[in-house]
Amino acid sequence: MSRPSEGHHITLGILVSGSGTNLQAIIEEIEAGRLSAHIGMVISNVEGCRAVDRCRKHQIPVRVITHQSFSSRKAFEQALIDQFEEVSTDLICLAGFMRLLSPYFVQHYAGKLLNIHPSLLPAFPGLDAQRQAFTYGVKITGATVHFVDVGTDTGPIVLQEAVPVHDTDSAESLALRILHIEHQIYPKAIQLFAEGRLTLRGRKVETCINRSPASPTR
Ligand code: GRF
Repeated sequence: MSRPSEGHHITLGILVSGSGTNLQAIIEEIEAGRLSAHIGMVISNVEGCRAVDRCRKHQIPVRVITHQSFSSRKAFEQALIDQFEEVSTDLICLAGFMRLLSPYFVQHYAGKLLNIHPSLLPAFPGLDAQRQAFTYGVKITGATVHFVDVGTDTGPIVLQEAVPVHDTDSAESLALRILHIEHQIYPKAIQLFAEGRLTLRGRKVETCINRSPASPTR
């Protein structure tokens, strides 16, 4: 995996389909100077979604590319790649992008493609993870940032944070609490990438943030 050097501002490409609150969290961290990145291009596969409005408001380049206008999945994905290549992205972030990406796209961006998922993977992959966890009755769930591989939510895990499930929760209140954590860990993971602090070893990602200090000698 190539690493941007320390202090360098990386260029992000972001894929969205919906409300774009994770996109908003990334925008705000960049604007606050806490994220060494700039957003080169946002692509939405859904016309008129909230995420597109957020880009316009913050003068971020945004394109809507819908898969219906392409003859094949590969042609659609090539169009995404072509757009991102125009701005020389260092990292692609899926932020509520609701279309499955084929191995063609995933392999093109191996080690440079992140996703946020609203559960503690490998528990509850796939759609509606918050409701899956709520219905199952777990006491702790959470959020995961991971590199994307060809499986569904199976890629190497970068950061996770736990969220307790309260007796008084509904699936909706739980989802909101998870979303709040997503907004914290996604920018954090991107910053680690920007600092070149993510090292992939097999399916493990070393982040250099969880190391305990050397044990004192007596
Ligand atoms: C988030 O819960 C994210 O984990 C999931 O889709 C949702 C997107 O929300 N992949 P938003 O569009 O960022 O508001």
